Amino acid sequence: MNNIAEKINKLRKEKNAVILAHNYVPGDVQDIADFAGDSLGLSKQAAETDADLIVFCGVHFMAETASILSPEKTVLIPDRTAGCPMADMITAEQLKAFKEEHPQALVVCYVNSTAEVKALSDYCCTSGNAVELVKALPADKEIIFVPDKNLGAFVRERTGRNIILWPGYCPTHVVITLDKLQTVKSQHPDAVVLAHPECPPATWPEADFLLSTGQMLGHAEQSEAKKFIIATEPGIIHALKKRCPDKEFIEACETICPNMKKLTLEKLLWSLERDEYEVKVEKEVAQKASRALMRMLEVLP
Ligand code: 13P
Ligand code: SF4
Repeated sequence: MNNIAEKINKLRKEKNAVILAHNYVPGDVQDIADFAGDSLGLSKQAAETDADLIVFCGVHFMAETASILSPEKTVLIPDRTAGCPMADMITAEQLKAFKEEHPQALVVCYVNSTAEVKALSDYCCTSGNAVELVKALPADKEIIFVPDKNLGAFVRERTGRNIILWPGYCPTHVVITLDKLQTVKSQHPDAVVLAHPECPPATWPEADFLLSTGQMLGHAEQSEAKKFIIATEPGIIHALKKRCPDKEFIEACETICPNMKKLTLEKLLWSLERDEYEVKVEKEVAQKASRALMRMLEVLP
C-alpha cells in the first residue's frame, strides 16, 4: 500500500470517519472508500452510518445531502469547488416562480439539486428510483420535475404521467450524441449498450438499457453478455471492470465530469488531516430539504 493510502487509513480509524465516493471519481479514490456507489446508494449510506465524520468524495450536492440526512455529523468535501453545473441550473427563486405558474403540481427534484431547491420540493429522487417514485404519486396530479429535462422526459416516457420539465441538463452527458453512439455501435455491433438517462433522448432508442450508474453495475454483473458500450461518465468503467474482470467495457465517446475528477487521493488526505472543507446546511433549509429526501426513502426504502 502506498504512503498516502496508509495515512488515509490511519486517520480514518483515529477519527471514526467513513469515506463515501461516487462512481465517477478517480479509481484510486473509489478503491479506498468505505462505500463507492451511485447517488441513491450514497444517500442511504449517509443516512445510516454511525461514523462521527463523513468525508464525501463526490460533488457538492452529494455532501450537502449527507449533511441534511445526518445533521449531527460533520461532513467534509475534499475540494470545495467540486460542484454540479446541472444542480446550479435552477435557483430557489426560479423554482418558486415556476411553482406559482403551476400551483396544483407536485414538485419532484432530482437529487442533483441544491439544498434550497430540495427545501421547496415535495419529493426528491435519484436516477435509480425516479420512475418508481413518480409511479407511486397520485395519478391525477401534474408533476414539476427539476432540474434535468432529460431524466424528466425519461420518467414521462416510462410513466405516461403529466410532467412539466425544467430546461436543465448535464454538460457531461449531452455530448454523448446520437451520431457518436451510432459510430461506436457500428465499431462494436456485438456490444450491449448501457446508457444513463441524462443522455439526450435522441440516443435512447440506440440503448439496450437506460440505467443509473449503480444499476449499470448490477446489470453487467448479471448479464450473460461479455461486451458493453457505456454511455455515461467513464469513471464507472473502473467499478465495472472490478466487478466483472472478464468482460469488456467501451466508452461511448470521450466525455468526463471535470468536477468529479477534482476528488483526488491527495485532497482526500488533506481533508482528513485538516478537517476541511466542512459542508453544512442552514438549519431551516436542511429541515425542509430533509422532508423531500425522507419521503423518497420512505416511498422506496
Ligand atoms: P447516478 O445517480 O447514476 O449515480 O448519477 C449521478 C450523476 O451525477 C449522473 O451524472
Ligand atoms: Fe453533475 Fe453531470 Fe457531473 Fe453528474 S456528471 S455530477 S450531473 S455535471
